[in-house]
Amino acid sequence: MPGTLKGLVLSGGAGTRLRPITHTSAKQLVPVANKPVLFYGLEALRDAGVTDIGIVVGDTHEEIEAAVGDGSELGIRATYIRQEDPLGLAHAVLTAEGFLQDSSFVMYLGDNLLRDGITALVDQFRTGGSDALIQLQRVPDPESYGVAELDGDRVIRLVEKPKEPASDLALVGVYMFTPAIFESAKAIRPSERGELEITDAIQHLIDRGLRVEPHVVTGWWKDTGRLDDMLEANRLVLDVIQPRNDGEVENSVIEGRVVIERGARIIDSSVRGPAIIGAGALVENAYVGPYSAISSGVVVRRAEVEHSILLANSRVENVDARVESSLVGRGATIRRGDQKPRAYRFMVGDSSEINLL
Ligand code: G1P
Repeated sequence: MPGTLKGLVLSGGAGTRLRPITHTSAKQLVPVANKPVLFYGLEALRDAGVTDIGIVVGDTHEEIEAAVGDGSELGIRATYIRQEDPLGLAHAVLTAEGFLQDSSFVMYLGDNLLRDGITALVDQFRTGGSDALIQLQRVPDPESYGVAELDGDRVIRLVEKPKEPASDLALVGVYMFTPAIFESAKAIRPSERGELEITDAIQHLIDRGLRVEPHVVTGWWKDTGRLDDMLEANRLVLDVIQPRNDGEVENSVIEGRVVIERGARIIDSSVRGPAIIGAGALVENAYVGPYSAISSGVVVRRAEVEHSILLANSRVENVDARVESSLVGRGATIRRGDQKPRAYRFMVGDSSEINLL
């Protein structure tokens, strides 16, 4: 196999299923347990020994570049590749041809999260002789994914989001390719959704008689494109955090595994883990329950929050009912005022969702 492996991380895409958060922020930067989803992927590549990484970016390129920089803090070397239009995953591969050149590479979808990382996949590719290696997982809803049909250790057919799936093996958003993929990505035509599908390009490899092998994973995998998936990813990551207290706790009860970051203050409150309270956050006269990720600078005061992700500098104050299963955007405020008559008063962004119980 030629040279060292490079990495290709796809971090464009509009994130329509996470609006309104993604009106102002890249979906790959929404934090899971207070760390951007994208960073988990970059760290998984690094841990598999892949450090020369091209990051394909779209409209949100400035924000991604500001967050990742040159990659040195994450132990990688980042090169940014601009994809002007989101024309599909195979189109992204073609956009990156100048960066990838004749290297084999790992392609990683920047909003995917895998419990066990990708080291086993990368090792299988390094030692096997396949032209492509695809990561698969059994799922209850294969019609939402690319679906593979196997014959022993060969992949014989791939279909993108089939109405009648031939198996329950979904394509996980991590793939290994040799440069043979370029010819196939150039040969295919756009799908019904107008994209050059990587699934079709891999099928083209098979049709050319090249060897495509499966790698089936069993540890959890989340594509964090929707709110419920974000909350679940947050639960899964918080489930394995190690407790730590670098902040201040005053007259409060901390139960279970809780991470309290530097400068965070917990006053007259109760925090029940697993939970993380970010740097400089304030929890006062409040309850923070299991599976909460409170980002930096957040204020929770005279309120109860559980199973929720509160992004940086948001505030939840004077709310009688418990805030639950929620994703609160950066700088957003949820607060009960003391004016009379009592009424709901909102300034709500496009595509927001408010559920009053
Ligand atoms: C993409 C791929 C699909 C794959 C999925 C994994 O779907 O096209 O084959 O199963 O990622 O997350 P998309 O997220 O573009 O709908």
